[in-house]
Amino acid sequence: MRAIRVELGSRSYEVRVGAGILGAVGEWLKPIAGRGTPVVVTVPPVERLYLAQVEEALESCGLDPLVVVVEDGEDAKTPSAFLDVVGRMLEGGAGRDSTVISLGGGCVGDLSGFVASTYMRGVGLVHIPTTLLAQVDSSIGGKTALNHPKSKNLIGTFHQPRLVVSDVSTLKTLPRKEIRCGLAEVVKYGVVLDRRLFEYVESRAEGVLALEERDAEEVVGRSVAIKAGIVSEDESDIGRRMLLNFGHTVGHAIEAATGYRKYSHGEAVALGMVAESKIAERLGMLRGAELSRIEALLSELGLPTGGGGVPLEAALGLMRGDKKVEGGELRFALPCGIGSGKVVRVTDMGVIKDALSEVL
Ligand SMILES: NC(=O)c1ccc[n+]([C@@H]2O[C@H](COP(=O)([O-])OP(=O)(O)OC[C@H]3O[C@@H](n4cnc5c(N)ncnc54)[C@H](O)[C@@H]3O)[C@@H](O)[C@H]2O)c1
Repeated sequence: MRAIRVELGSRSYEVRVGAGILGAVGEWLKPIAGRGTPVVVTVPPVERLYLAQVEEALESCGLDPLVVVVEDGEDAKTPSAFLDVVGRMLEGGAGRDSTVISLGGGCVGDLSGFVASTYMRGVGLVHIPTTLLAQVDSSIGGKTALNHPKSKNLIGTFHQPRLVVSDVSTLKTLPRKEIRCGLAEVVKYGVVLDRRLFEYVESRAEGVLALEERDAEEVVGRSVAIKAGIVSEDESDIGRRMLLNFGHTVGHAIEAATGYRKYSHGEAVALGMVAESKIAERLGMLRGAELSRIEALLSELGLPTGGGGVPLEAALGLMRGDKKVEGGELRFALPCGIGSGKVVRVTDMGVIKDALSEVL
């Protein structure tokens, strides 16, 4: 097992990554949960697969959890799901000393984080992420979110967990499409922050896609270490953390321009990474050979690299309306070689348009 620390002074916490560690959550939670009620929030597919193990681990340590099951996917991130969980916690006698435990992917994690940050003005939070995306990304860093009918992730807070338990064995039951979604984020870390991670995935793509235990632990462990380092430096996302937007400025526009139906988030981010790498190449930041390596790795992992059928003007319009626009100029996190990146303002719309038109 690896224990990676997110350094945030008195709010520091550990992310424990390993195979078959779910049975230890009771023992690890006991000192965190104290006498308060632990509240496990999960979704039906994960309830069926892993809730019994988690309940058993908690009960064997004398903890008696309240379990709340919410709807799956983005339906977990609605204001009505939020009110439902809060109501169930109130009825179940959860007080200010309770701890919310999310069990599942990024959706239930975002909802649980929002509940924990607002219930009685804030209670403890523990994440047990069971998707690759949640293990490598959303469970670390404290961003919480609900969706508004007009905008995804519009409502949210920062609320750091007290512990994250990432059991890579749970990834074995994950559908291929969800594995790819998580791998897009892993490639993102490799390209803008960690050449070694990029080369590891390049050299062991097959094992990584199959999530063989050794590869899963290495890929999740390294990704967590990267994100933990960035969050420790820039918790509130105003500096270096913005590098993690690589692929996402274009990716979010692709998702929105296609009504969130044509591409999964990971596929849209993959297309976004190719488009943004092409912008970097046109700006002289990235060599052609490096761009080709990025495209080749994404293809090998089964992620799209072009031919997107996305309306270009709609995507450009959405990017202009994005949070990352400052004074009318678009800001991108772009690679400058493999393993390092920079946040840059791009003023030449022609460069952006040309790069996007090759991919979309
Ligand atoms: N807070 C953050 O910093 C942050 C970062 C990135 C993404 N996000 C959010 O994360 C969400 C996406 O998360 P996601 O990709 O994990 O999706 P998800 O939570 O919807 O999970 C994907 C699917 O996998 C199922 N599942 C979960 N674990 C499983 C397992 N072990 N075996 C089989 N099936 C399993 C889920 O029930 C669901 O159907 C988005 O809403 C996004 O906005 C948040």
